[in-house]
Amino acid sequence: MQSTDAQNLTYALIQVIHNFGAVTVVGTAASALWLVRGNAAVQHRLALLTAMVWAVQAATGALFGVSTFYYEGHLPDIHGIAVDALLIKIGCASTGFVLAVAYVKWNSEWAVTKQLLAWRASLTLGAIALSSAAFLRWFS
Ligand code: HEM
Repeated sequence: MQSTDAQNLTYALIQVIHNFGAVTVVGTAASALWLVRGNAAVQHRLALLTAMVWAVQAATGALFGVSTFYYEGHLPDIHGIAVDALLIKIGCASTGFVLAVAYVKWNSEWAVTKQLLAWRASLTLGAIALSSAAFLRWFS
């Protein structure tokens, strides 16, 4: 296998996990809001999954940069809108993670309206991160 093939394979495998993570953060929030609304036990498990997947997104996102450094000896050369989009994604992943952990720990003490607000916020963060991914991709 040529070195560029190994590098592309590495990016592709990271991307597979990153893409499934993207689907999951949006899917868990949408499910909590529209499929299992009112089912606190399932929503609690969905929040745990959401927290884990936000962390996976941050880890696999960082792995893209680590891979470039490993194969090319420097970090990805991005600037302008691509950097802004990346910072927005990092902000969404950090906020989403903290929100999901807070939900797992304290949701039983929260009013239903607060729980719904948390899921709406999580869905919004997922949608913003997904939209930013398109700008990161095409302005890189
Ligand atoms: C700390 C958080 C994150 C980092 C550092 C990160 C980093 C990256 C990087 C470096 C790429 C490759 C860009 C390229 O192809 O030029 C990428 C792609 C992508 N990311 Fe993230 N990401 C993060 C969070 C997220 C989140 C939270 C989502 C969605 C909810 C997401 C969705 C995507 C998608 C869909 C792609 C593929 C874009 C495409 O090629 O069309 N990322 N990410």
